Amino acid sequence: MAKEKQSLKSGEKILFGIVGVFIVMATIAYIAMEIYRLNRPEPLFVTKTHFVFTEEGKLGSRLFREGRCTACHRALRNGTNMGLSLDGVGSVRTLDWLVAFLENPEDTYGARTFDHGPRPKEAAYVARMSEKDRHAIAVFISQLKAEQGSSSAPMPPEGRSEFIDSMVGAWAPEHWKEKYTDIRDKQPPTSQQSGEPEKTQEPVREQQ
Ligand code: HEC
Repeated sequence: MAKEKQSLKSGEKILFGIVGVFIVMATIAYIAMEIYRLNRPEPLFVTKTHFVFTEEGKLGSRLFREGRCTACHRALRNGTNMGLSLDGVGSVRTLDWLVAFLENPEDTYGARTFDHGPRPKEAAYVARMSEKDRHAIAVFISQLKAEQGSSSAPMPPEGRSEFIDSMVGAWAPEHWKEKYTDIRDKQPPTSQQSGEPEKTQEPVREQQ
């Protein structure tokens, strides 16, 4: 029995029509956005993490990769996000803090840790690396700086944000407002501009 050529049902025509229009619109939007992006004088997303490495920092960078830290951490935008991203951590932690953490994670955090710490935790081996290697790695991490406004910098972008103000106004319970101060009312640490290590030991972001 020869099959006759079937024409599309009207429901199918509408469905394929919608999908077709969607694909055409998405393609036009993509091309338009790319043209806009390529013609901007400034990049769309400003890079707020930066780094200038000393010789020991460069050695630390190598040890960081060879020491399997990238299995859990991201630095210089490489690695994974299983642990914390360390880009910008140099603006939040001091070199001394980092040296102390790598050797003695739980005491330095003042809390139980997940992967660093005594055996059988997965990153227990870090504390058993040689002191020299750990120091070089700490120097490397301390040189991963972030500018104000970056997600890993101690201070949010300058100025007020209508969005944040309205969200805080609408959602933050009253007792939070008494307990916590608005981090944006603080003066940004001047040490950040000069590239000097922070004076505060505790990360400012915890007060948010
Ligand atoms: C198995 C996963 C894993 C590996 C491997 C690992 N880390 Fe971590 N790291 C973590 C986790 C998770 C944390 C958060 C603290 C915790 O709970 O252990 C952390 C925290 C840190 C911190 C503290 C960051 C901060 O500001 O609080 C530093 C610094 C750090 N790791 C460096 C390293 C270095 C250097 C190596 C390699 C020599 C390494 N880590 C290997 C998972 C890992």
